[in-house]
Amino acid sequence: MHSNGQTNWIEVDLGAIRHNVRRLREISGVEVMAVVKANAYGHGLVDASRAAVEAGATWLGVARIDEALALVREGLHARPIVLGYTEPERAAEAAAAGVRLAVYEREVAQAYSRCAGQAGQPLFVHAKFDTGMGRLGHSPQDGVEFVRWLGGQPGLQVEGVFTHLAEADEPHKPTTLSQLARFEALLAGLDAAGLRPQYIHAANSAGTLNFPQARYNLVRPGIAVFGLQPSETSPLPPDFRPALSWKARLASVKMLPPGHGIGYNFKYFTSREERIGVVTVGYADGFRRRPGNQALVRGKRVNVVGGVCMDQCMLQLDGVPEAQIGDEVVLIGQQGSESITAEEVARRWETIDYEVVCGLGARVPRVYR
Ligand SMILES: Cc1ncc(COP(=O)(O)O)c(C=O)c1O
Repeated sequence: MHSNGQTNWIEVDLGAIRHNVRRLREISGVEVMAVVKANAYGHGLVDASRAAVEAGATWLGVARIDEALALVREGLHARPIVLGYTEPERAAEAAAAGVRLAVYEREVAQAYSRCAGQAGQPLFVHAKFDTGMGRLGHSPQDGVEFVRWLGGQPGLQVEGVFTHLAEADEPHKPTTLSQLARFEALLAGLDAAGLRPQYIHAANSAGTLNFPQARYNLVRPGIAVFGLQPSETSPLPPDFRPALSWKARLASVKMLPPGHGIGYNFKYFTSREERIGVVTVGYADGFRRRPGNQALVRGKRVNVVGGVCMDQCMLQLDGVPEAQIGDEVVLIGQQGSESITAEEVARRWETIDYEVVCGLGARVPRVYR
């Protein structure tokens, strides 16, 4: 087997990201902002973003200004926007770099205005409204006044108005329709006042797929860009492709006698003579200390036994007598005809696929295909 010299790595299929972004453009029919915060959901900020832009994403959405500035330094041809809170002292940097900021609070907007003045360039802002999620956002009731006021702040240019959907992945629930009704009322008010800005956006991945009326002229998918489903109740169209595989190697294979303890505090004992492998993945890589973990070895599913250690864990390899040191072990991804999805791992860890991929360790090298 050809080695890449790594013992634990993430393979990112950039072709899958490009395919998914192209599909999101086709489905939505509007501009696409690829949401690439949190190191592009663990896929690697710069390379994943470049792939998204190559496939036609015209915006890149992040959570922290340093992520946006890193994208600007790469010279990617897409508008970067920080969707969350930014400290006012960074506003001049944002303006100078063309990074858009979310605004939802007058005091902070005023501070942005003062700082942006120092940059000698306008700071493009997107007014964020809380139409029901209970997170960031100005109240839409006096939203027209807020947008008017924002437009009067020196140094600020209102380029967009947006909101975020709390339950778009549960399309049968009424929440999204009531959020959109509040947003529509705000937009009607802005139209009447001649204040509608260039960009209107509301839809995350689930919103983009489930609520065509939420697409406006820009959609903000994150998880779907990476080919992962927004939730069990909101699967992706079947042709979307997961971009991420997570792999490690067998570091040892040996036969242990019956009654042998395995790992710290002996959470497993062999019940007969058993073939036990050691694989190079641990909780420091993001592999959780939870029961029921599995992996693929030579195309077969095997169980993790004993506790997960910091850098390694043990596999029960009785079903894979041909396993050898150096074999590739798949933790997420496909091997032969078997596969383990991020969604499956999420169920096992009682969390969501978002948290699985965002939680992959910083030390794990990302390898691009
Ligand atoms: C404001 C905003 N827009 C869009 C997204 C993308 O969401 P998703 O990954 O569900 O598509 C997020 C992510 O949480 C977000 O916070």
